[in-house]
Amino acid sequence: MKLKVALIGIGGMGKNHFNIYKGFEDIDFVAACDIRQSRLDLASAECPHMHFYTNYAEMLEREQPDIVDICTPTYLHAEHAIAAMQAGAHVICEKPMALSSQETSMVIAQAQKTGKTFMAAHVVRFMQAYAYLAEAIKTKKHGKLLKLSLRRISATPTWSWENWFLDKQKSGHVLLDLMIHDIDFMQSVLGEPEEIVGAHYELQNHTNFASAIYLYDHCSVSIESGWFKSNPKFTADYFAFFEEGYISLNDGNVVECGEPVVLAEKDAIQSMGINISHADGYASECRYFIDCIKAGKSPDFITPESSAASVALVEKTIEKLAKL
Ligand SMILES: NC(=O)c1ccc[n+]([C@@H]2O[C@H](COP(=O)([O-])OP(=O)(O)OC[C@H]3O[C@@H](n4cnc5c(N)ncnc54)[C@H](O)[C@@H]3O)[C@@H](O)[C@H]2O)c1
Repeated sequence: MKLKVALIGIGGMGKNHFNIYKGFEDIDFVAACDIRQSRLDLASAECPHMHFYTNYAEMLEREQPDIVDICTPTYLHAEHAIAAMQAGAHVICEKPMALSSQETSMVIAQAQKTGKTFMAAHVVRFMQAYAYLAEAIKTKKHGKLLKLSLRRISATPTWSWENWFLDKQKSGHVLLDLMIHDIDFMQSVLGEPEEIVGAHYELQNHTNFASAIYLYDHCSVSIESGWFKSNPKFTADYFAFFEEGYISLNDGNVVECGEPVVLAEKDAIQSMGINISHADGYASECRYFIDCIKAGKSPDFITPESSAASVALVEKTIEKLAKL
């Protein structure tokens, strides 16, 4: 029997996940839900055999899915994840896991109570360029990591449903929405830092930029993340400086000690220890979750506790940064 998969939220990221599940032949992608009829019309034109809903509770009750993928705005993640697990489904949920540590605890408690599996989709951990770096840090192939710089720059997101990204109470703004990608990557590889210093610039025009330094025992990590009203091209890059070498990501290209690195599918597969059949991070995270559920295995590559730790680290960062 194929696993029945349903999706809640068919906005920007939800449509991406929709396209991915459409292409998976070993699942039954049965249903999708959005409160906007226009998004349902778009999806049903592509997959008329699926069932579409404007009410997620009705979808959960009627379809009884094995897996629910949540791509709704961040402030709805906890509500939707808890409802899906109560309805008997395993849950994969877009990052961040939830809006606050209070909510991440509620999600973890519900997973424990129902025995259902929950995974937050931290796509950066699945991206080959980052998986390659994580492996190099872990194996110390160039000696110990001394300094890591992570940078992520975006235009101010004004394209979302009802502009929810610009409402801090709904998205957590740039730190919880954008910077969490790199905070989560750092936390998953290096654990909790000992100290945090830096600054957060929040302008009235929705330019919102944070620059933080995380001090560890043997290394330091700087993370810079920003939404800019001036509309820059999306950029995500890194520079890792080791005792005996370096690895950098720039414009999508990984360079290791002066040599270009050709990332093969197997690089990502090896570092995740489970069958990953797509090179793309978004497809990989969905594939990984489905394979874990099929195998009756907990997704140990991303645990709910480590996703909750990333939300907590965002909260700590907000507390520590000077407000400019
Ligand atoms: N991993 C990544 O790289 C990445 C990138 C972008 C967004 N995200 C995350 O994905 C999530 C969604 O972001 P987005 O950019 O797709 O936002 P979006 O505004 O484009 O889409 C959200 C969708 O949810 C729908 N929705 C709202 N309330 C609903 C409800 N009660 N039931 C059903 N549908 C409902 C809206 O109609 C909309 O279509 C956010 O948590 C965001 O942080 C992740």
